[in-house]
Amino acid sequence: MSSPEPNENTAPTRFPKLLQNWISLIGAVFAMGSIFAFLLLFAIELFLPHSNPYMGILVYVVAPLCFFAGLLLIFVGLWAQRYEKVSPRLHIDLTRPRDRRLLVGFALCALLFLLATAFGSYQTYQYTDSVQFCGTSCHVPMHPEYTAYLHSPHARVACVDCHVGAGAEWYVRSKLNGVHQLVDVVTGNIPRPIETPVKNMRPARDTCEQCHWPERFIGSIDRTYYHYLSDATNTPFAVRLLLKVGGGGDNGPPSGIHWHVSQGEKVEYIATDAQRQVIPWVRVTNIATGNTTVYRDKKFHDDPAKFEIRTMDCMDCHSQPSHRFLSPNEATDTAITAGLIDHSVPSVKANVVAALIAPYQTTDEAMQKIASNLHTAYPQLASVDGLVAETQQLYRDNFFPEMKTDWRTHPDNIGHKISAGCFRCHDGNHKTDDGKKMIPADNCNQCHTILAQGSGDQLKQLNTDGTDFVHIDAPYLEFSCINCHTGAVSK
Ligand code: HEC
Ligand code: HEC
Ligand code: HEC
Ligand code: HEC
Ligand code: HEC
Ligand code: HEC
Repeated sequence: MSSPEPNENTAPTRFPKLLQNWISLIGAVFAMGSIFAFLLLFAIELFLPHSNPYMGILVYVVAPLCFFAGLLLIFVGLWAQRYEKVSPRLHIDLTRPRDRRLLVGFALCALLFLLATAFGSYQTYQYTDSVQFCGTSCHVPMHPEYTAYLHSPHARVACVDCHVGAGAEWYVRSKLNGVHQLVDVVTGNIPRPIETPVKNMRPARDTCEQCHWPERFIGSIDRTYYHYLSDATNTPFAVRLLLKVGGGGDNGPPSGIHWHVSQGEKVEYIATDAQRQVIPWVRVTNIATGNTTVYRDKKFHDDPAKFEIRTMDCMDCHSQPSHRFLSPNEATDTAITAGLIDHSVPSVKANVVAALIAPYQTTDEAMQKIASNLHTAYPQLASVDGLVAETQQLYRDNFFPEMKTDWRTHPDNIGHKISAGCFRCHDGNHKTDDGKKMIPADNCNQCHTILAQGSGDQLKQLNTDGTDFVHIDAPYLEFSCINCHTGAVSK
């Protein structure tokens, strides 16, 4: 197909000058492939209901890079051709059967390459959209969130459903974010722990409310919280609550806990710390009348306009719907309740919590020391190896020293026992300036009815008017729960 001396007279089919050498030709196919992949990915992005941040990297970084690599090859080929580095030059004479065969072969290969590009782009798209990609591809940084996610009620909801969602504005934002994150991972510049709350998280309206929306909330939830005291007998201590979750519209007047996100009212607040744990100012606006009520902590005299005023949404209470790191106390209680840790082992509650809570630098160190500590605590116990294995599992599921992540760095705002949660506002200190109204905090049965307390059959004796909370000897009304309950050993 090529001849050292081109014979002008036989007028072979001449390729454009550009493509008279193999290098440029391959470069051209490569460049075409990347344009093709770009268009295809772009179309996928445009027409699918949501896209994910990493797609942006493929579309706007990887595909153009391949395109430029193709261009570069073309120029290298031209340069080589010019200085006779590649000889012989490429000439195709379609009258020659060998040339025809070669050309068809080349065209087939090029077509195959394009098809492979299309298939590859689509596969890559699917992969970057998957939970495996988000959760495991930059292994260490996402490990805590991914592990917690697998144990959450949302384990079958894709990361992108909450973190990206649909719409043009967020599309662009998430593109920028994805590139930014990739740079962080490559340069090792990852915050440890990854900050929470996520600063530019999409509003709940567009994420959570795709699947749960306030108008559909109904009624109350009956939930039992099982605990064990840190005494020698691991005394059971359970509380059965009827949580007045309430509803927001279609099924009756807005009421109960979900009143905050009902359609009739807007609740706004300012927080003076990055984790939104200190909330000294709250404003409620009745949407129909426009009337506002401002509640203020009496110690707060600053001008609210100096702070970001946020509208309360799902994530202000459900701060860890998918990434909840259990406190050592809760992790141990859950394992005892599930029968994974033997309740009859003396002081097992206290010893497991102590083994989990000791400061460890790495997970490996924790694994070794948990084993040695429990072996020291129970030299005679036959089942100690099982206990060690279970405790190590609890640790791996909830503690991530490599990312400095555990329940302390990621508080759950749903209750009030180990993080301020509801009591950030419902603490008796948030009043209107005239002192006449207060954010309700005077009654333990405001948000839940304590149906029963104790253990075994006692938990079935329900008192629908609500019983008083029976605490241990420690006074629980004079202080906030978090003054004593840290999630580890209570003071
Ligand atoms: C049900 C919705 C939902 C799903 C599904 C979900 N997340 Fe999240 N994620 C959240 C919320 C809400 C936050 C906290 C945002 C806030 O408080 O502002 C968060 C926070 C994070 C954070 C920041 C650190 C932290 O723990 O607060 C990371 C990292 C993260 N998610 C990764 C993931 C990964 C990886 C997946 C999939 C394996 C995933 N998320 C799935 C809702 C979700
Ligand atoms: C793609 C759909 C989807 C999205 C988006 C979603 N969820 Fe869920 N959520 C579910 C499913 C499915 C369940 C499990 C329902 C069940 O167990 O009955 C669930 C369960 C829950 C529960 C109950 C958990 C429990 O302990 O029973 C809460 C609370 C919740 N979601 C809050 C949220 C919040 C807050 C967001 C936004 C950050 C969110 N969800 C986003 C689908 C979703
Ligand atoms: C004022 C705090 C608060 C806000 C705001 C809030 N929730 Fe809840 N939600 C709760 C509490 C408390 C429960 C009771 C369950 C629990 O303790 O885990 C609950 C229960 C739920 C449940 C499970 C019960 C059910 O009725 O299906 C879902 C789902 C849920 N919330 C979703 C949402 C969504 C979506 C939003 C935003 C539109 C939202 N919540 C806003 C506090 C809140
Ligand atoms: C940002 C501040 C804030 C947080 C956090 C907060 N609330 Fe509220 N809550 C309010 C305000 C303000 C009101 C209404 C006061 C009024 O009547 O004007 C209210 C009212 C309520 C009501 C009465 C609703 C009704 O039927 O009228 C319940 C129940 C309630 N909150 C439960 C909770 C629970 C449970 C949590 C924690 C999961 C919580 N709140 C967290 C500010 C907050
Ligand atoms: C502003 C609403 C609100 C008020 C007021 C309130 N609680 Fe709660 N409480 C909650 C919510 C919401 C939960 C559920 C937390 C969860 O699901 O993890 C809860 C959970 C609990 C639990 C179970 C926690 C556990 O881990 O065992 C106890 C016990 C409890 N409350 C006692 C009290 C007592 C005692 C008072 C009065 C001093 C009180 N509550 C006042 C909202 C409230
Ligand atoms: C003055 C300190 C103090 C205050 C305040 C306090 N507690 Fe406790 N609480 C304790 C101690 C100490 C224990 C016993 C812990 C043990 O034996 O492991 C305990 C045990 C408990 C238990 C059972 C065991 C456990 O660790 O979960 C619950 C549930 C509980 N408290 C809820 C609350 C709630 C809810 C509040 C706020 C309304 C509160 N406590 C306020 C000191 C306090």
